[in-house]
Amino acid sequence: MSNNNNDNLIIEKLFKPKSIAVVGASRNLEKIGGVILSNLVKNKFNGKIYAVNPSAKEILGVPSYPSLLDIPDEVEHIVVAIPAEKVPEIIEEAGKKGVKVATIIASGFKEVGRADLEEKVVNIAKKYGIRILGPNVFGVVYTPMNLNATFGAEHIHKGKIAFLTQSGALGIALMHWTSMEKIGLSSIVSMGNMADIDAIDLAKFFEKDENTKVIGLYLEGLGTGKGHEFIEVFSEITKKKPVIALKAGRSERGTRAVASHTGSLAGSDAVYDSALKQAGVLRASDVEQLFNWAKMMAFSESFEINGKGFVIITNGGGMGVMATDASEFNGLPLLEVPEELKKEFRKTMPWFGSPNNPIDLTGQSNVQNYIEAIKVALESELVSGITVMYGEVAFLDPVELANGIAKTLKEYNKSRKPVNVVMLGGEKTKMGTEILEENGVPVYPIPEKAISSMAALYKYSKIIGKANLKI
Ligand code: COA
Repeated sequence: MSNNNNDNLIIEKLFKPKSIAVVGASRNLEKIGGVILSNLVKNKFNGKIYAVNPSAKEILGVPSYPSLLDIPDEVEHIVVAIPAEKVPEIIEEAGKKGVKVATIIASGFKEVGRADLEEKVVNIAKKYGIRILGPNVFGVVYTPMNLNATFGAEHIHKGKIAFLTQSGALGIALMHWTSMEKIGLSSIVSMGNMADIDAIDLAKFFEKDENTKVIGLYLEGLGTGKGHEFIEVFSEITKKKPVIALKAGRSERGTRAVASHTGSLAGSDAVYDSALKQAGVLRASDVEQLFNWAKMMAFSESFEINGKGFVIITNGGGMGVMATDASEFNGLPLLEVPEELKKEFRKTMPWFGSPNNPIDLTGQSNVQNYIEAIKVALESELVSGITVMYGEVAFLDPVELANGIAKTLKEYNKSRKPVNVVMLGGEKTKMGTEILEENGVPVYPIPEKAISSMAALYKYSKIIGKANLKI
């Protein structure tokens, strides 16, 4: 909401506080305040933790005090998990205590017609210079500090994607899903009613955050009159880091649903679409796509793309055709392989393979065929990026293949070409996927998802003027 330096420093306290207090830390660990405290403790938050509960001396080994003012130490961030009506008095106390930022979990504000109560809270906070996240949020995660101040999933897979969401239930569900899928996150922030801190403030933090390589946004609305500021701020951010947005409320009925959800005006979809484009923000069409693209960006070492087109290396003709279609639909230029290069590829495959793009190593290929073909593609200046596809066959072990690909990329991808992999098959391909991703190679279960993600990377490279393709 505000953009002076002091405010930016305060927002840092949302993610990197020296100390955090949960107000309403219930003794019942199944209640929201109890879960938040438990998540902080079990994740071994890097700072001090305090509980505020009038009826407890200690919860989960954390010292508990009747009020914030009784805590004999500085408190930088509070998480407020008591009913809405009681929130103003807590913020008043927080002001006296010198708290910098408050995450307000409680629902029961603007989203249910209590704009007056929300305004009251914001005004008290302003009086003391406290920044507010929420109300109506599930909390905040920042994995570099082991901070999980949410009532969502306990375990979060660490990584470089920051995800900011205006929808609570979606965010909580995605905490579980990203954990199961081992999608690495630096942060998840629930933005709720955005009475104070909004997507713009948060993105400014992540722009500078060295632990974040890509920002994902689930948006329903920006808040009235925010369009120009959004474009201005995000145009700067996207020069440094990719931002991928999922903007809900596309349809007319969806727009009305947004109004009753967070109380924000969704506005016309065409206007948002144009604002996102102007700001250089990539727009994903669903949640899975957002994370597919984000994974590709998070694992990429460079966004500079050279050469004359992308290549697909496969052991299945059908998968190759699917990937070719997807390339055309997604605007990913495939390399017309010149005769010289075809000769090189031919050496890497059985005589009945195809050195045309897709490079078809055939179902009879082995790990060595893959390694050789990948090396040829990496070494050719014509190749802009590579999608390596594997459909599970009995005599080519996906684990061996994954190890082979990971090693080859480490040794030979000197020019840091974008590479992704498709592992299509059963249980063993999951093991292969894990090996590759542990080695920083993004893997997808089907060709379309890999190609769409490579195309998103190419699109971002064009946005920031780093695509030098000579097509
Ligand atoms: N200071 C500190 N603690 C206080 C307190 C105060 N002024 N007043 C009450 N408490 C304690 C309570 O005693 C209780 O602890 P206990 O269980 O050990 O007795 C704890 O704080 C919680 O208070 P309680 O009144 O039981 O609230 P609750 O847990 O039923 O509900 C909310 C609180 C905030 C979770 C609930 O009001 C709410 O808004 N839920 C919706 C949250 C939501 O969905 N947010 C959006 C997600 S996207």
